[in-house]
Amino acid sequence: MDEITLARGLHVLGVVIWIGGVSMVTTVLLPAIRTMGTPEERIRIFSALENRFAWQSRFTTLLTGFTGFYMLYALNAWDRYESIGYWWVHAMTAVWFIFTMVLFVLEPLILHKWFQDRARVNPEQTFRIIERMHRVLLTLSLITVLAALLGSHGVMFGND
Ligand code: HEM
Repeated sequence: MDEITLARGLHVLGVVIWIGGVSMVTTVLLPAIRTMGTPEERIRIFSALENRFAWQSRFTTLLTGFTGFYMLYALNAWDRYESIGYWWVHAMTAVWFIFTMVLFVLEPLILHKWFQDRARVNPEQTFRIIERMHRVLLTLSLITVLAALLGSHGVMFGND
């Protein structure tokens, strides 16, 4: 097995654990938590569960980013960023960048405190914002998974 195949395998493994987790949180956990206890309790349950998942996501985001950039380097495919036909490479990078910013910069520095403060004032609305953010990120991620899969197997235009 060559390095690119190994990188591709680890890349997909990272994507499966990461985006699969986002899907589980968005479509199962959040709707279930919505029906539990008081609004304050919902925020508390969500924070406890999401905190564990955030560590997993940080690791899988790093793995996916590292293997993705490695493949671009090994395939000498940086010029894909110059072609609109490779929009699915831009989409992968954009999704990765958004999650990296949220998980490594915004959440620890700003979002965590912002949500805690806001949840004290209006827990109901805060929970709705959390749900909406998850739905948006999941939708973007799933479109990207489908596009990357089709694109890297030559189904879309812009391939070698
Ligand atoms: C730094 C960010 C990323 C970079 C640089 C990157 C780069 C790449 C590259 C170079 C390939 C191989 C393309 C080819 O064989 O022609 C690939 C495949 C793929 N990537 Fe990414 N990627 C990144 C993030 C993501 C993210 C966030 C997702 C999911 C949301 C994703 C999903 C996939 C999928 C599903 C494949 C197809 C694997 C296959 O079936 O062979 N990637 N990526």
